[in-house]
Amino acid sequence: MAEKEAQGVDVRAMFDRIARRYQLMNRLMTFGRDGAWRQAVVRETALARGERLLDVASGTGDIALEAMRKIEELRAVGADFATEMMRVGRARPGGGKIDWCAADALALPFPDASFDAVTSGYLIRNVPDAEAAFREQLRVVKPGGRVVCLDTTPPPPSLLRPFILFYLRHIIPLLGRLVAGDREAYVYLTASTEGFKSPEELARIMRESGLTAVRCHLFMFNTMAVHVGERPVEP
Ligand SMILES: C[S@@+](CC[C@H](N)C(=O)[O-])C[C@H]1O[C@@H](n2cnc3c(N)ncnc32)[C@H](O)[C@@H]1O
Repeated sequence: MAEKEAQGVDVRAMFDRIARRYQLMNRLMTFGRDGAWRQAVVRETALARGERLLDVASGTGDIALEAMRKIEELRAVGADFATEMMRVGRARPGGGKIDWCAADALALPFPDASFDAVTSGYLIRNVPDAEAAFREQLRVVKPGGRVVCLDTTPPPPSLLRPFILFYLRHIIPLLGRLVAGDREAYVYLTASTEGFKSPEELARIMRESGLTAVRCHLFMFNTMAVHVGERPVEP
């Protein structure tokens, strides 16, 4: 059921449609916690002053902006295929300092080994081939550089699961309708989350793409995951 509802959605058009209310919806749905998960993503990049970050599926730039706040003289590229999301991002304070690039995460228009770290927030759940997306990220990150991925996870079995499912299936679509005027986009969020990989499966896919030292941190009753992997240093 959940997977069925997530199928056949034009992801790009959907994000262009909700771009103006995207950030407000995130703050409301996560009780303001989403900023902390993006901070964890930035910490996990281990980027240093003056280095170069690619934030794939940057959307309105939350991760890239957080990274620029934390790391001096960081050069950040924000790539996304939804131009309206990037237009909203560019207009934000600091958004003009990001190099924005219209790009598909499955065919990144960057040379091999051209970034010190690559991040993505809520991308992998939306792509038809997660391993191919990680392979692209591995290709453009330098040897020794990190690939960091933030996404939702299907609610694990626990006493809280019925409450989490109620929140996902009823409250989030209601908020989507009232705040973003787009219930369908938020039904898709729920359906794609329920149909997504477990943290263990996602870690396995990252390893199969060629990343090493893959690990995962879970947040918010294990419903959010930050996965980290590294491009091996060639001998
Ligand atoms: C939920 S938003 C996340 C935005 C931002 N990373 C954040 O943390 O708030 C997902 C973004 O992924 C982008 N996206 C999804 N599939 C993509 C693809 N194949 N190539 C590029 N961008 C993609 C969407 O356009 C959207 O902006």
